[in-house]
Amino acid sequence: MNSAPLGIFDSGVGGLTVVRAVQELLPAENLLYLGDTARLPYGSKSPETIRNFADEDVRFLISKGVKAIVVACNTATAHALPSLHEKYRIPILGVIEPGVEAALANPNAQRIGIIATRGTVGSHAYQHALALRRTGLIIHAVATPLLVPFIEENWIDHPATRLVLKTYLDPLVEKGIDTLMLACTHYPLLIPVLREILPAEVSLVDSATTCAEHLKKELTRLKMLATDEGQGDLELHLTDLSEEFESLARQFLKKSPGRIYRAVLGV
Ligand code: DGL
Repeated sequence: MNSAPLGIFDSGVGGLTVVRAVQELLPAENLLYLGDTARLPYGSKSPETIRNFADEDVRFLISKGVKAIVVACNTATAHALPSLHEKYRIPILGVIEPGVEAALANPNAQRIGIIATRGTVGSHAYQHALALRRTGLIIHAVATPLLVPFIEENWIDHPATRLVLKTYLDPLVEKGIDTLMLACTHYPLLIPVLREILPAEVSLVDSATTCAEHLKKELTRLKMLATDEGQGDLELHLTDLSEEFESLARQFLKKSPGRIYRAVLGV
């Protein structure tokens, strides 16, 4: 059981930022990644649609024999995690709770900015999770739908991306945020540019590293950590294959993604 793969899914290849973080922290784990590239983006779709998609994603991973599942998509975590917990007994972890805990690990965090898809912002999942844990927080959540296409175009260090980021972030900086939560699995790729744009005192909290740390704690608690020595395998399954997704996957993983399989959901 412990050598069974961990299932990780996202709407596309953005969740590979989580895969990278998990590979760094838990190198022995075998990972099976599902990217629902055929139905990307999730960020602009209704909660009901996202719940149905996430359910199919989970069923696909369970059919592959995974031991636990990580929802490496903020939008899917925001809309579907509670219903997935109700329906399935396999451990399923999302990205929101770990991010919220990491943000509030700083006792001085008080003015929190959140950038995310429209779906995640509209669900209020981050706002509720933060407010439940600390009273008196000032929370500014902003939908930043233009960022995913820029990242997917590999326009990370591009003047247009900087302009868009500044347009989104200047109002948050003016409001004096001390923490910025990158509440979308694509956004860790923007960290170098964000560090240049934001005042040095603003802390960045990203979904990928916080999720990997939470996963390590949970697998340890459940006695489910891989016990084998050496580097685990990574198998990528995408619902739509294209050369673009392959090169994007390389960009997110910072290495060759190896062989990519075509996933068929709902069978
Ligand atoms: N992966 C999604 C998220 O983290 C962003 C991309 C999408 O909209 O599907 O919210």
